[in-house]
Amino acid sequence: MRLLSVLAVAKTASLARAATTYDYIVVGSGPGGSPLASNLARAGYSTLLIEAGGDEADNPTYRQMGNFIEACNDEASRWDFWVKHNDDEKVDALYKHTTWDTGDGTFYVGLDPPPGAKYLGIQYPRAAVLGGCAMHNAGVSSLAQDDDWNIVANLTGDLSWEAPKMRKYLKAIEKNEYRPAGDPDHGYNGWLSIITDDPSWAKATNTTGVRILNKFAEFLGQKASDEVTLLSQNDILSASPDKDYTSSLYNMALHANSKGERSTPGDYVRATLSDPAKYPLTLKLRTLVTKVLFNESSTTPRAIGVEIMEGASLYKADPKYIPGTKGPVSQVFASKEVIISGGTFNTPQILKLSGVGPKAELEKFGIKVVKDLPGVGERMGDNYEASIRGVTTEPIPAGLTTSIFRTPNAPTKKRNIYAWCGPFSFEGFWPGFPDNRPNQWECALVQIGPKSQAGTVRLRSADPQDTPDINFRFFKEHGDQDISELVAATNIMRETWKAAGAPALPIQELHPCPGELGKAPCTDAMQKEYTQLQAYSHHATSSCAIGADSDPLAVLDSKFRVRGVSGLRVVDASAFPVVPGAFPVVPTMMLSQKASEVIIADAKGA
Ligand SMILES: Cc1cc2nc3c(=O)[nH]c(=O)nc-3n(C[C@H](O)[C@H](O)[C@H](O)COP(=O)(O)OP(=O)(O)OC[C@H]3O[C@@H](n4cnc5c(N)ncnc54)[C@H](O)[C@@H]3O)c2cc1C
Ligand SMILES: *[C@@H]1O[C@H](CO)[C@@H](O)[C@H](O)[C@H]1NC(C)=O
Ligand SMILES: *[C@@H]1O[C@H](CO)[C@@H](O)[C@H](O)[C@H]1NC(C)=O
Ligand SMILES: *[C@@H]1O[C@H](CO)[C@@H](O)[C@H](O)[C@H]1NC(C)=O
Repeated sequence: MRLLSVLAVAKTASLARAATTYDYIVVGSGPGGSPLASNLARAGYSTLLIEAGGDEADNPTYRQMGNFIEACNDEASRWDFWVKHNDDEKVDALYKHTTWDTGDGTFYVGLDPPPGAKYLGIQYPRAAVLGGCAMHNAGVSSLAQDDDWNIVANLTGDLSWEAPKMRKYLKAIEKNEYRPAGDPDHGYNGWLSIITDDPSWAKATNTTGVRILNKFAEFLGQKASDEVTLLSQNDILSASPDKDYTSSLYNMALHANSKGERSTPGDYVRATLSDPAKYPLTLKLRTLVTKVLFNESSTTPRAIGVEIMEGASLYKADPKYIPGTKGPVSQVFASKEVIISGGTFNTPQILKLSGVGPKAELEKFGIKVVKDLPGVGERMGDNYEASIRGVTTEPIPAGLTTSIFRTPNAPTKKRNIYAWCGPFSFEGFWPGFPDNRPNQWECALVQIGPKSQAGTVRLRSADPQDTPDINFRFFKEHGDQDISELVAATNIMRETWKAAGAPALPIQELHPCPGELGKAPCTDAMQKEYTQLQAYSHHATSSCAIGADSDPLAVLDSKFRVRGVSGLRVVDASAFPVVPGAFPVVPTMMLSQKASEVIIADAKGA
């Protein structure tokens, strides 16, 4: 009797073990994790995709790209990270959207918090949901600069990263809906719908918006009469070898379909799960990965699975988290590999909690060191963003003017600013953003090629439900150059606004030079100070980057393998050694597509 029950237990245990072993485990279903997990399953490998959030694909707030502001603010997926821009707290305290917890369930945003309010920091939203941040982002689809890929080839000697060889990954994922069929630069059979905005507003001959646009075309050396053609036919995702040196008007591309519905890597997961071919993909939602499990019986530790905690809203960044809540903890195993795709903040946190990271930091929190890897969570970068904002005496009827251009003070011949202008407000993120006003007009500016990557993601505790301590250290190296580039772009935009003419003029500038446009005091020095304090960002990358064998801070090799351990890779935006172009989401999906090819080739070779 006794023996029998022991046997019964043993049998159940081995069954449970069999049921929870997959070929691959992918952690995080964003633009890094979802394409990879789907491709592995489609190649016949049993794959478990684990996501901390739920699935909101049928929720109209997420479905329609036009609702992106509601999606960003929505508690169904929101993870609030409260970050620092600077080591000096006094400088951060001057950021006008600094956020405080009032203690009564509301936030205070601003420079004059009520007594007793608790300092939180600068809100940096992420989406914990199937599809990751592609589910709440603005959908802007842009490419890396060729050199952002070439640098990987240079650092590692792996020539498969050369820019012309990366194009095929865009073509593989893309379902282009804006170029006529047959354009060799594009793909038409992938899962990622890409459209462009409607530029027909620019056909008007003498509206305020068109007068501003004319002036801007003049600055770019383009013919004002060609605007509609430029906006509609100049391909912003072109493969032209001189694209990174071309200043031009473009039409903004978005990852959405022609019905305006958001298209995301989560859709690819859903299509893979529902495919009649019954691919061996398992999606586990509302599950927090707390660490990677290693087998340390040989000299190189091998990742064999992950520990998970099951339940919704278990992470403290989740506004729905209830203090003290925990979920059941268990383990799942991978016979081939574990791939971490938790994004730029969570991937380094997961590695550190697993014992892979800077030794001193791990020991400080009592975490057993599996591999001392000093670069984990270091060298984080981001595109700096700034804007010029104003209000006019009457509404300006216009769509978006998108451009990518070079400011005269750029350090190379490459273009350095991605800008979009129009009747909107966007000045970064804070609870309840944005600050809309009647008759508003703005040019938002994203800097390409930030010189400094001094950001860090460090542990606050060994608790996997805790958020890490995140500091971007804005403008730490060559900051004056980066700030000057943003100010130069602002000055160009201000000149174009002066062409608005009556009756839109006078425009009241809100920032960086408050007052009547053209009359209020406005020096470069004033604008630099404003930009240094009020710049923001939302494209964090590079916290677990690919690097050279000789670089002690390199975290990955060119095949996404975490250095010093086996069976473990990182595939997400944290892997880029430099910030890719102006917007990272499409480059991250391309990277995931490349990783799929590399991992499947390794599996076949093994
Ligand atoms: C508000 C906002 C707007 C943006 N707008 C644009 C834009 O217009 N264009 C553009 O190109 N880029 C934009 N970006 C950036 C872009 O969306 C990200 O760079 C991109 O999503 C990064 O993909 P990722 O896979 O690295 O990480 P993420 O998208 O962050 O995905 C990571 C996933 O992993 C999950 N996860 C994390 N930790 C765990 C864990 N421990 N256990 C289980 N699951 C976990 C998360 O829930 C998440 O779903 C925006 C970002 C934000 C925040
Ligand atoms: C790569 O190396 C070559 C040769 O040293 C150099 O000319 C080129 O500028 C480098 N490119 C990048 C992106 O680092
Ligand atoms: C354009 O419109 C403005 C304001 O309505 C007007 O003053 C101006 O004469 C117009 N210019 C042309 C060329 O029609
Ligand atoms: C750990 O690896 C050794 C061989 O290196 C193997 O014999 C053992 O079964 C592994 N243990 C687990 C739990 O995978």
